[in-house]
Amino acid sequence: MSAPSRVILITGGAGFIGSHLTRLFVTRHPHYKIVNLDNLTYAGNLENLKDIEGSPNYTFVKGDITDMAMVRSLFETHHFDGVLHCAAESHVDRSITDPLAFVRTNVLGTVSMLQVAKDAWKDHYEGKLFYHISTDEVYGSLGETGFFTETTPYDPRSPYSASKASSDHFVRAFHHTYQLPVIVSNCSNNYGPFHFPEKLIPLCIYNIIHQKPLPIYGQGLNVRDWLFVEDHVNAIDLIFHKGKPGDTYNIGGHNEWKNIDIIRELCRQMDAKLGRAPGTSEKLITFVKDRAGHDLRYAIDATKLTRELGWKPSLQFEEGLSRTIDWYLSNEQWLSEVTSGNYRTYYEKQYGH
Ligand code: NAD
Ligand code: DAU
Repeated sequence: MSAPSRVILITGGAGFIGSHLTRLFVTRHPHYKIVNLDNLTYAGNLENLKDIEGSPNYTFVKGDITDMAMVRSLFETHHFDGVLHCAAESHVDRSITDPLAFVRTNVLGTVSMLQVAKDAWKDHYEGKLFYHISTDEVYGSLGETGFFTETTPYDPRSPYSASKASSDHFVRAFHHTYQLPVIVSNCSNNYGPFHFPEKLIPLCIYNIIHQKPLPIYGQGLNVRDWLFVEDHVNAIDLIFHKGKPGDTYNIGGHNEWKNIDIIRELCRQMDAKLGRAPGTSEKLITFVKDRAGHDLRYAIDATKLTRELGWKPSLQFEEGLSRTIDWYLSNEQWLSEVTSGNYRTYYEKQYGH
């Protein structure tokens, strides 16, 4: 390619959200050079990026974000102007069994990235941006009413959300102390293609296909605010280009569902698509032991993003869910590859069958 207008490092680009983000930047910004740094944990999969792997403006590097020497040498080679920091351990249940892995990647990894960016940019911050992708879980758990805004005090309650909250604090501390240009966005639950089937929606899609029990924690009354992953990465693109350094943006779709209701809707749509009699898949619903410390409700107020930058989610939920199911039904090989090997061990430990 001719000289790129910007060079951007995406971390965790082989994961669920990272792969959608990488695809969007590579295809929508052909004059940018995109480097994807990912150490391919169980959640990272280069199959997620098959369609863009040969693009002239795309390079993959296998490596760990805590390896500062390696990340420094990447900055020396590529002279990044921007970082989209997506790499993380992302599953709450895994954080309950192994919190230290979350401290290592989410806290140590983020601080390592910040330190290397700061050193590489040597206080010359014109045109530079460190964009940190975070979660609404840092705000804690809501009761029946109310929404998280950008000024809601942090109150993380799981090892995962505590590690993300800590990383957000470090990002803001680097801005406050060293003037590093940073942006943080906090998003609600994503769903869509390439979602690893340890999370509620893809796990239940997989189990419905194979007519296995659908494990619902507690009574299924916990509420999540679901956003189609392409809407999330569109918001990130907009904020990356038009957002104000130093600011935080909440991203969410005003789309709250109780877990039991979302799984019933999933069963309804899948029975129709699979030609099964209505009510067949609902019989698979099985209430199991609740998640320890299970947050009751998350709901994002994204008014700031809509008011300042004009962002709105593009899809109605039923349509997004239908597109997601269709993707899984036509990508059964992807699903069967990611659910072989270590997935089985994880599944047995988590669900006991
Ligand atoms: P994911 O688990 O699907 O992917 C994480 C990626 O990071 C994987 O490709 C993995 O290999 C990579 N990675 C992990 N540790 C690494 C390390 N030490 N070095 C390099 N790469 C490493 O995660 P996701 O669901 O796509 O989430 C991505 C980001 O978005 C996370 O920061 C998460 O906190 C945030 N987020 C997720 C959601 C959601 O609903 N999934 C919602 C809001 C925010
Ligand atoms: O809110 C944003 C967060 O959403 C992200 O930061 C996390 O990375 C992402 O994993 C997600 O966290 P959740 O814990 O909300 O997602 P999960 O899909 O694991 O669970 C959704 C809800 O479903 C939650 O209330 C727990 C419940 N659940 C989950 C699983 C895996 C079940 O009832 N049964 C299950 O087997």
